[in-house]
This record gives sequence, structure tokens and C-alpha cells, in this order.
Amino acid sequence: MIVDLNSRYGLNPAHSEVVEAGKIIEPCNALDMGCSNGRNAVYLGQLGFNVTAIDTNPAAIDMLKSISIKEKLSNIKAQVYDINNASLGEDYGFISSTVTLMFIDPSRVDTIIADMHKRTLPGGYNLIVCAMSTEEYPCPVRFPFTLKVGQLREFYEGWELIKYNEDLGTMHNGAKLQFATMLARKPD
Ligand SMILES: C[S@@+](CC[C@H](N)C(=O)[O-])C[C@H]1O[C@@H](n2cnc3c(N)ncnc32)[C@H](O)[C@@H]1O
Repeated sequence: MIVDLNSRYGLNPAHSEVVEAGKIIEPCNALDMGCSNGRNAVYLGQLGFNVTAIDTNPAAIDMLKSISIKEKLSNIKAQVYDINNASLGEDYGFISSTVTLMFIDPSRVDTIIADMHKRTLPGGYNLIVCAMSTEEYPCPVRFPFTLKVGQLREFYEGWELIKYNEDLGTMHNGAKLQFATMLARKPD
């Protein structure tokens, strides 16, 4: 049985889409982009993925490092890294970015996604959950970047879309906005 380390360290449960992805993707080298203090990285690490977890927040990375040391999760590597650099140094079978891309520099989006594509192994997966701003539901939060209708699908043309939706969600304060949710598999 997997011990609930997320609760032990006061982390929220892993994102529901990461949990779903973990049911179909075999443990492999995985990248958690914008990992914060590691709710998804710890979960994937416990499933047996070799996780590289990156974030610009040094305090969050320190917390994740200390959890992995205490729990002897030597398969989690936490690093301070700015996603805007778009210069991932390794290849991965699974790249995950949940509720993070809306914080990046909009002028870097194309380059960041292209780098994610390049660094995904053939047959590997990308999971993205990102806020949208649409005519019907303009984003009520001033994120630097939001996706337009169909934009994420276009970025992943040629990949197999295992899951794709642009569903309406509700924020803690009751405000409504759409999120693009995608699990895509790169061709072999
Ligand atoms: C809303 S949190 C999401 C955290 C995590 N992915 C999850 O599902 O809980 C967004 C995270 O993105 C990180 N972030 C924002 N801009 C970033 C950037 N340019 N490079 C790396 N991380 C960034 C923030 O520090 C924060 O930890």
C-alpha cells in the first residue's frame, strides 16, 4: 500500500489529471514543470517514476528536496529552473504541467511547447492543464498568459489526443473560467 506522503507533509493531494495519467503511463523518466512544493512529484515518485521537478520558487524546491531526503525518494530530483528558458536538458517519457503555463511569458509559449515536444520521447506523453480566456468566459484573473479556444489542440497537431477538453471550472471565489485539459501521446 502507498503511504499518503502528501498528507504527511501538508501537501494537497496530487492533481486529479496526474492521478488519471498515472494509471495509464508506465513509470519512466518524468518532468513536472512548475512543481511547487511537489504534490504531483511526490505522488509520481511513489508510483516509481524518475521525476525531475522544476520550479522558479527556491523555497518550494527546498521543501520538496527535504521531503525526498526524509522519505528516501532518491528518484525525485528537484531543481530551480525558469520554464521561460525553454532549454530542457533531457528527454522524458512523460512531461506534466498542471495549472502553471498561465504564469509564463506569453512571448515564449511557442518556444516552450516546441522544446517540450522535442524533449518528449517517441510514444511519450504530455499533460497540460491551463487556464483559458474565451469570448463566453473571459478569464477573471489577470494571468500573464491564457489559452484561446482550440489553441492547445493546434499546438499538438499530429499527436494522439488521449484526453482533450476546454471545460468550464469554478474558482474558490465562485468565478467561472474555462481550463484546457490535455493528455497527448507523441507518435512512435
Ligand atoms: C498554481 S502553481 C501549480 C503547481 C503544481 N503544478 C500543481 O499542480 O499543484 C504554479 C507554479 O508554477 C510556478 N511557476 C510560475 N512561473 C514559473 C516559471 N517561469 N518557471 C517555473 N515555474 C514557474 C510557481 O512558482 C508555482 O509553483
